Amino acid sequence: MSHPAYVRIALAALALAGSACSKKPGDESRPAPGSGGAPAPEAAAARTTIKLGMIASFSGPFADVGKQLLGGVKAYMKQHGDTVAGKKIEIVTRDTTGPVAEVAKREAQELVVQDKVDFLIGFGLTPEALAAAPVATESKTPMVIMNAATSIITTRSPYIVRFSLTLPQVSAPLGEWAAKNGIKKVVTMVADYGPGHDAESAFTRTFTAGGGQVLDAIRTPINSPDFSSFIQRVKDKRPDAVFLFVPAGQQSIAAMKAYDERGLGKAGIKLIATGDVLDDHGLATIGDPALGAISSYHYSVAHDSPENKAFLDVYKAANGADAGLPNFMSVAAYDGMAAIYDVIQKLDGKIDPDKAMDILKHQAFTSPRGPISIDPETRDIVQTVYLRRVEKVNGELRSVELSTLATGMKDPGK
Ligand code: PHB
Repeated sequence: MSHPAYVRIALAALALAGSACSKKPGDESRPAPGSGGAPAPEAAAARTTIKLGMIASFSGPFADVGKQLLGGVKAYMKQHGDTVAGKKIEIVTRDTTGPVAEVAKREAQELVVQDKVDFLIGFGLTPEALAAAPVATESKTPMVIMNAATSIITTRSPYIVRFSLTLPQVSAPLGEWAAKNGIKKVVTMVADYGPGHDAESAFTRTFTAGGGQVLDAIRTPINSPDFSSFIQRVKDKRPDAVFLFVPAGQQSIAAMKAYDERGLGKAGIKLIATGDVLDDHGLATIGDPALGAISSYHYSVAHDSPENKAFLDVYKAANGADAGLPNFMSVAAYDGMAAIYDVIQKLDGKIDPDKAMDILKHQAFTSPRGPISIDPETRDIVQTVYLRRVEKVNGELRSVELSTLATGMKDPGK
């Protein structure tokens, strides 16, 4: 969605007016974007609320992303309440309607300048995160990434920390595994934007280092209505397997439909994917064509741990049984909230952005996915990567964890 020039000028004027005129003493602890960088006098203690500005796609073709992220936020707040260190936690949501960078940037500016949020959270899609990064830097607003998974994102602002994954983190171990497990020839097929490019290069690097051969590298539009012609191209190359990454949600469901309809499985072409393609929330819609598919990933609802059991219960309680299963995005949102609550607690409700970042950088706890920590050098997630296979468990499709591919896995893309 692009705005005509007059709307953009009006928005810029609004942002400037907001930063110049509307600050009341005690309103905030950070400068507005473009105001020169010096923090305003610290009077955050006087405030009774802490605001989290959540930017995500809540409508359009990537609506499931926003739903899963908000579902994770709600689950955490259901479990831990909406008051921390005496401050009420308020979530202010903004809908990007899809990977529309300029909308995400404007929303970040508005949240910081007008709503005076203490944290920016959400960011399901890479273009949203990249667009908002300069706003986080200028305004010194801690920005907690709950999904967007292109490697470079955390390098774009010292105020960014990521609780989700990076595509190289899960794709590199899968390339190594494939080369060691009888797969000799692969066609790669990825969505043609940041996370897809990262997945393709990380998989290719380890797979070819292990002696594998990549016959073709296919890139599909970020929002592809139909994957038939791309899947046919895979079939024509007769590889042992197709390595697949597309964003979870409508795209992964459409890609799997084409995989089934074009008879790739029957032609003996295995599917090896990142867990996005077979995400827990979408698996029931994909149905039996997913059976036997191999993926590498950091979270499955089938992960057997007390933390995951508690998470699944509270997710259902907070979002209703109709919401279906959570997925990796909901878990990253839940963990991101845990980290933010820890910051608020440790700072006794007075959010200084640099102190907040210092606490965020040193997070380490047991998530529903297993042990996680933040690498203080890169502000990126460190976690376990599992090898999984889609199986039926009590009549329902699940990505069952077969083995651990890597523990303490950092983003190899940096
Ligand atoms: C991203 O845009 O970074 C993204 C979106 C969906 C995914 C993974 C990454 O499943």
